[in-house]
Amino acid sequence: MSSRAFAPFINPVVRQFEAYVPGRSIAEIREAYGVSRVIKLASNENPLGVSPAVREVLRQQADLVFRYPQSGNPRLVKSIAEFHHVDPARVFVSNGSDELLDLLFRVCAEPGVHNVVTALPCFGIYTTQARFAGVELRQAPLRPDFSVDLDAMLALTDENTTLVFLTSPDNPSGLAVPKEKMLRFAESLPKQCMLVADQAYVDFAREEDGGEDAFSLIPELEAHPNIAVVRTFSKSRGLAGLRLGYGILPADLVSYLWRVRLPFSVNLLAEEAGIAAMKDVAFWRETVRVVEQGRRQLEQGLQELGCNVVPSHANFISFCRPGMENAGGINEELLKQGVIARWLKSYGLPGYMRVSVGTEEENTVFLGALKAALAAC
Ligand SMILES: Cc1ncc(COP(=O)(O)O)c(C=O)c1O
Repeated sequence: MSSRAFAPFINPVVRQFEAYVPGRSIAEIREAYGVSRVIKLASNENPLGVSPAVREVLRQQADLVFRYPQSGNPRLVKSIAEFHHVDPARVFVSNGSDELLDLLFRVCAEPGVHNVVTALPCFGIYTTQARFAGVELRQAPLRPDFSVDLDAMLALTDENTTLVFLTSPDNPSGLAVPKEKMLRFAESLPKQCMLVADQAYVDFAREEDGGEDAFSLIPELEAHPNIAVVRTFSKSRGLAGLRLGYGILPADLVSYLWRVRLPFSVNLLAEEAGIAAMKDVAFWRETVRVVEQGRRQLEQGLQELGCNVVPSHANFISFCRPGMENAGGINEELLKQGVIARWLKSYGLPGYMRVSVGTEEENTVFLGALKAALAAC
């Protein structure tokens, strides 16, 4: 009998992939640096944690997890449709918005034929899932102030471009494109091309600039059939760990997405939690208020420490120390003090760090740790 180990066939595209490197966990940092208190401000999670209404629903539903969820998650779809005043036929729900983004590459582009346009740098999922789908991704560099260069994006489109991904507010800059500009951009796209507005952070848009109303494209979808909006429950709704995202998209596209989505990718607890989170308007509003306040606290604190701050419409802030090309040392010094923020090296911005807006206390601890880190570097 042969002693040769079985080597399964691996798709050559997959052979090129490196495993996703997630942010480091609280437990890992506690152990590695011997610190008792660790605060995590690296993944733009909800500063208030879990909504009490969601916690209660999860407790009640625990006995039902031996059941499959209802196919197509119709109650969740209905609650999202009601919240946004849209036709339920336009609503699609997914295992985190990541799943929807992935499906869009595979449903709306044919490998080797079509291309997709986005910005550089962009949210990492666009790059990995485009590669996995075998779809060419064309990227227009952001301007030096991190604003999106819509003209450059438009110039990259051609008769084979089927999707343009625009993240607004953007990650990691936090900058947002005003609604009118997005609409004009969508109107200028080639006729077969759909604008996908990834608006994961739009409910945090700055009040002084008009808040969510000035940036959300959902109310504009009826009049602009070539726009789709992607949203998530991971940020302002506090469900990152349950994995729940959604899109408001053209109804015919939604019907195709349902055909290929794995039947139960939105699990029973995520579904029930999502319905409860949509109803818990008080928790959602309080989250937005705490983020507005915390963002001001962080912006002011960072500026007082001599940092350059990118003005953010999201629940995070990117910043750098002027003249410092590599923030790796600052990142390390923060970790030693039990503060996990995000070093933006993987976005091609090694001089920059991104910090999520936490509670007032977490923000204060972060600013104190950063002060010490800057002094040490
Ligand atoms: C711009 C953007 N889009 C989408 C996502 C994915 O969110 P989720 O898969 O948790 O819904 C994130 C997560 O951080 C993000 O920053």
